[in-house]
Amino acid sequence: MFKGQLTVIGGTGNVGRNVLKMLIESNLFDISNIRVTGSIRSAGSYLQIGKHKFLIENTEEIKFQNDELCIFNTEADVSSKYIPIALDSGAYVVDSSSHYRMDTTVQLIIPNVNIRSIDVKKSRLFAHANCIAAPIATVIAPLHKRFGVKRVIVSTYQSTSGAGKKAMDECLESTKKFCESCDIQASQSFPRPITFNVIPQIGSFDDNGFSGEETKISNEIKKVISKNIFISATSVRVPVLIGHSSSLSLKLESECSLNDVLNTLSESVGIKISGNGYHTPIEVVGSDDVSVGRIRTDGQDDDKWLHMWICSDNLRVGAATDSFQIAKAIALQV
Ligand SMILES: NC(=O)c1ccc[n+]([C@@H]2O[C@H](COP(=O)([O-])OP(=O)(O)OC[C@H]3O[C@@H](n4cnc5c(N)ncnc54)[C@H](OP(=O)(O)O)[C@@H]3O)[C@@H](O)[C@H]2O)c1
Repeated sequence: MFKGQLTVIGGTGNVGRNVLKMLIESNLFDISNIRVTGSIRSAGSYLQIGKHKFLIENTEEIKFQNDELCIFNTEADVSSKYIPIALDSGAYVVDSSSHYRMDTTVQLIIPNVNIRSIDVKKSRLFAHANCIAAPIATVIAPLHKRFGVKRVIVSTYQSTSGAGKKAMDECLESTKKFCESCDIQASQSFPRPITFNVIPQIGSFDDNGFSGEETKISNEIKKVISKNIFISATSVRVPVLIGHSSSLSLKLESECSLNDVLNTLSESVGIKISGNGYHTPIEVVGSDDVSVGRIRTDGQDDDKWLHMWICSDNLRVGAATDSFQIAKAIALQV
């Protein structure tokens, strides 16, 4: 058991609350040593997780300690403000935000792919990939190792909780309002109304027309698996509360049979095959696996194209589960 101080920064958020549940359920951490912080908005109130009640401290006011384990489940601006202070105090840090992911001096961890590369003697800061790059990478990595992946074309269908608790609540509230009054209002959290709609924009567009989310998918997967895989993504926000899905097409270097693909994926970490069927977002909530379904080869061009549908709980895969697994790997080394 890790006996040291453990702090969950942003513990009141969607990801933070899931991390706390995992820390408690694991029995690997001394719960009396867990402190939880939030913004000034929730500081002083209590957060109930199962039978445990945590006092929310104001992140601004806490003192970090030597060898403390800090799990940041905050947006990039908050992570970038406090992580340097935590590191200067000698803490170990796991970060969920995008801030350090592409920093060449910081290791980007997708636990299903490269958890074994964590070495606390070499680094005290680890970032994890985002909630859509991580499940896609979980599927690409074993296929790349076995057959070589040259090209990836992916369309994502991302839930509103991927934009934080406030955005998810807005989806729920605006849908209720629409049912009462048929009134569609402008959104506070999304570029267009989300009620009964789909929005092909997550983040702002760059000069080539790719959104921030689409660029993250490509960059993060390349950083962790191989810079030689070419990835084109289209990211779409859908009025789902929890659960990200993707329609994923891969061009392999070598020909393969459907059986080879199924065998490779079913032997891989973090993957659950849904056979000829598929899972929908609602069905994967609460699971730490990436569901892979509708797997099919495509002989129209050559036998090197594969298509599939993948689905995962975005508050766990590429989020709380990854934060927790990295924290556990650090705790086992210190
Ligand atoms: N949601 C996902 O699917 C997902 C997946 C992967 C990674 N991530 C990343 O994980 C991080 C957290 O996401 P989330 O969805 O959990 O967000 P969220 O639900 O909006 O929660 C944000 C957390 O940050 C805290 N916070 C906000 N402003 C703060 C400030 N100025 N100082 C200190 N704390 C502050 C909030 O505290 P209060 O409650 O007190 O305001 C809350 O605990 C983000 O970087 C996100 O990009 C999210």
